[in-house]
Order: sequence, then C-alpha cells, then structure tokens
Amino acid sequence: MAPGWALARVGPGRCPFLLTIAVSRRPWSHRHVLDLAAFSPDDYATVLDLAGRFAALPTTGQRRLPALQGRLVTTLFFEPSTRTRSSFELAARRLSADVQSFSPATSALVKGESLQDTALTYVAMGSDLLVVRHACAQVPATLAATLEGRGLRVAVLNAGDGLHSHPSQGLLDLFTLARYFAGAGPVTPDVLAGRRIVIVGDVLHSRVARSNLWALTGCGADVVLCGPPSLLPEAFADFVAAPPPGQPLDPVARRGRVQVERSLERALPGADAVMALRLQKERMRQNLITSLDAYHRQYGLSHARLELCGAEVPLLHPGPVNRGVELSGPLLDDGARSLVEEQVRNGIPIRMALLYLLAAGDDGAG
Ligand code: NCD
Repeated sequence: MAPGWALARVGPGRCPFLLTIAVSRRPWSHRHVLDLAAFSPDDYATVLDLAGRFAALPTTGQRRLPALQGRLVTTLFFEPSTRTRSSFELAARRLSADVQSFSPATSALVKGESLQDTALTYVAMGSDLLVVRHACAQVPATLAATLEGRGLRVAVLNAGDGLHSHPSQGLLDLFTLARYFAGAGPVTPDVLAGRRIVIVGDVLHSRVARSNLWALTGCGADVVLCGPPSLLPEAFADFVAAPPPGQPLDPVARRGRVQVERSLERALPGADAVMALRLQKERMRQNLITSLDAYHRQYGLSHARLELCGAEVPLLHPGPVNRGVELSGPLLDDGARSLVEEQVRNGIPIRMALLYLLAAGDDGAG
C-alpha cells in the first residue's frame, strides 16, 4: 500500500461502514468542486490515486461499493449532456447512492420556478450532492454560496458552467494522460511534469480547455494552445499567470508554462500528447471561421498531421466530436492513437472519486 494510505472507517455519519478500499489520509479541504483553480498538487494526487483504485475494481459481478449508501445525488442539468450526466449517475450508483435526475423541459421551470427554488426543492427532499450544469458561468458557485448561507451542508459539483469551468472533465483528461504516461508505474501528477501537451481548436468557448489549463500546469506540464485568433485570443498565454480569481495565492508553487501558437506545423513537433476541442457553434455569437472545410485544412487532425509530432503520441478529445472537422474519421476510430473512448471510461472512476471525497469529507473522515 502506498505511503499515506490506509484502510479506514469512512462514510456518512448516519451510515458508517468499513470500506474495503484504501482511503487517502491526505487532507481534503474542498466542500464543493466548482473549479480547478483552487486545486493543489496534493489535491490532484488524491483524486488520481482514488480514481485509480476505483478504476481497478471489477466492472462485472459485485460492482457496487456501499460508500454512499443512504446518500442522495441529484443531477441538475440545465444544458444538454450525454457523457457527463450519464457518468455522474453511473458513478453515484456504483457507490450505492440514490440518484435523482432533473430535466428542465419537464420540470416546473417551464411554469416559472427559479433555478434556486428548483435546487432548494431537491434539497428539501434530502439531496446531499447537487451535480449542476448550466449555460451561464458561476451558477454552481452561486448555488453553493446560497446553500452555505442557509446553513445547509449540501455539496455542489460543477458539471460545466458556461465558458468558465468543467472540473470533472479536466480531471478525467488528467487521469487519462497520467495513466498513459505512467505505463505500469504509479499514476501520480509527477508523470505529467515537463510534458508538452498541445490543445488545438476553439479554446475561447471551451470550459474544458480552461479546466485543463489549471490541471495540466498544476501538475507541471507545459501547454501549447493552438488556433486562429478568432478562437484563441492572445490573452490565453497569461491564463494561469496570476493567482486564480478570488484567491490571494496560487496553491501551486511551480506551474507549467502556457504558450499560444497559431500554426499546427509549429505547435506539434515535440508534443507528448494532443487534445482537440470541438468547434462550439452553439456558443459562438458570430461566424468566427470562414468555413468548416477551411478550418479542417488548417487545424483539423489526421494521421498525416500527427506525424508532425515526431513520435506516436496519444490523441484526446472531450467529445462530442464534429467528425471530419476537428478530427478525421479514421483518426477518431483508430483505437491505437485515439484515447477518446478511454476518456469516456475514465470519467466514471474520476466522478466516483469526486462524489466520494465530497461525501466522505462531510463527516470529517477520509
Ligand atoms: C464538453 C462540454 O460540455 O463542455 N463536453 C463534455 O462535457 N464532454 C465539451 C463540448 O461540449 O465540446
């Protein structure tokens, strides 16, 4: 067993049990998970380690752990989702939580109920964890502040808010890369240190890119952002330069660097991994590219393009993919190069880890 880990008695105070997996002794200070700007290297280590343990559990037969028995997890998605919502719900079920999911179109929202009153309704039914996605930035944070203001011990997990943040996606991308680089070794943040990760595409509209910037640089990786000026303003080079918003100090002493590069031909050589981002047409207020064809020619990835990296490097994409735009179909379908399905699979243990850490933290255990 790795140092700092031990079998421990954890779980909600009203339903204690002996959990038969190792539990972190590192302190976990987050009451909510709203953003990765506040994550320290220890936080990344804790999440990666725990996710690794959940990922190693058999996925057939006895699949459920009793960790969140008696807990109620509510998914409040005010924006469409395929992967994030399903994997949060699956993760909650694998930890034996009860799961309630809300759909705006069939809810009292259409009768004029406010978002806050909707959330409070689920809390009144006993919800312990709210997993929130919204098209506007800061909705999960505002909800968390409201709940705290009322003295309610309900954890809020941000499942994507506007252009701001998508912490569980940033962490599953980190986990996917860390597992790839670790090979048979331990999956720790250190395996990211000094790596060159290229992120190409619509950075401006991507909350995934923002969360990846915090996570990757927080583990010491250098990030090269690549895209046209309309989708990647120069200011992104300074994204992690100042202390994170609202924090006097950066919890990471030595972050990796961020560089903006307009040409893929200059960005790719020497890359250790490449991540493509979807062109987020629904978030664009105006036409920011001349045509999808032109975009694919300049910034689309294919087997031939990836040869510029100089070595066989893995390819990531958070999905959903515009097939033939960000990635060629053959590259997306090439299981030897594309980690896209692996990212989806890794979303489950990462979300189990987050749900577990927030719930276990509730009674001071863990
Ligand atoms: C992302 C999102 O919703 O921000 N998708 C996801 O959660 N996997 C990225 C996107 O929509 O392009």
